[in-house]
Amino acid sequence: MLEKEIEELKNECLSCQKCELCSGRHNVVFGVGNPKAKIMFVGEGPGEQEDLQGEPFVGKSGQLLDKYLSLIDLSRNANIYIANIVKCRPPMNRDPKPEEQDICIGYLRQQVRLIKPRIIVCLGRIAAQRLISPDFRVTAQHGEFTEKGGILFMGTFHPSALLRNESNKPLALEDFQKLREKIKEEKLI
Ligand code: URA
Repeated sequence: MLEKEIEELKNECLSCQKCELCSGRHNVVFGVGNPKAKIMFVGEGPGEQEDLQGEPFVGKSGQLLDKYLSLIDLSRNANIYIANIVKCRPPMNRDPKPEEQDICIGYLRQQVRLIKPRIIVCLGRIAAQRLISPDFRVTAQHGEFTEKGGILFMGTFHPSALLRNESNKPLALEDFQKLREKIKEEKLI
């Protein structure tokens, strides 16, 4: 039933033409992972590789994300779900515009409604400002858990930002360790 509902939502999303991002896309990047996962990761939007392959976080930043996930026994093939705020690639990898986010966020809301995660990890400023608080500052608030509507939200550095500025990698690793602790505390896996 859950799988069917996710599939229906995905099909609706795949034919979406609600904003101009649809005109440049190769693929809609709906999301990947276990729909029964208790932990969800949310990025901002597909990059070049994601657009070409139709899956979130498969480029260089995705490889770094997979490495950090494996350090705390998480994997997109087993116990998490990964999605983005916008499902189509913004041209030249620019930030998704607020109006594009407004239009697309309904798909993410429905994904959350169906998957019912206990924890949502926001990867980077765009996701954290959209899902946690409009004035969220990653450098000041990364690794903090905030509970809203029965979901624990945590913001951390976007993997692309870590590839640009490697000095934040130890802080990001600490955030992933905090996540591991929280998962244990909550007995989620
Ligand atoms: N960056 C994101 O925010 N999401 C992806 O899927 C890939 C890169």
